[in-house]
Amino acid sequence: MSQDVYELMRRDHAFILAGIEQILEHTNGDTARRVKHFRDVKQTFDTLQNFEEQEFYPAARRATGLDAEIDDDMEALDEARGILTSMDGLSPESSEFMEAAQRLHANFRWHADHEERALWNQAKEKLPHETVQKLGDEYARRKGLPLT
Ligand SMILES: [Fe+2]
Repeated sequence: MSQDVYELMRRDHAFILAGIEQILEHTNGDTARRVKHFRDVKQTFDTLQNFEEQEFYPAARRATGLDAEIDDDMEALDEARGILTSMDGLSPESSEFMEAAQRLHANFRWHADHEERALWNQAKEKLPHETVQKLGDEYARRKGLPLT
């Protein structure tokens, strides 16, 4: 029994979106909470982007041939990475930080919706069972989760 790679990725998509929503909700000068959520979002995003780009997309490309879809998903991740990097240089109390968080939310919601709808349906049909298991184990390992 392996970790379900789709469930792990879906959970991280949801965790990142919820974290950005928490940043956007703490508008009353609760900077410490914003900073905590920002740190959590960044850490989960790093693990997710590295895994998707290094492991999931190469396997999904081979199995589905959906190159244009995958390129769009990767481009959205690169944009999100750029926004996160720009937020690192901004004061979490600034309106620029909150505007960047708004952009990040729209960008990442697009990434998650598009990938889960367009790519995963095909990948679930076409990726060999053994590959799906290996991907689940690898993502669990990167996240420090138990393998069963
Ligand atoms: Fe993703």
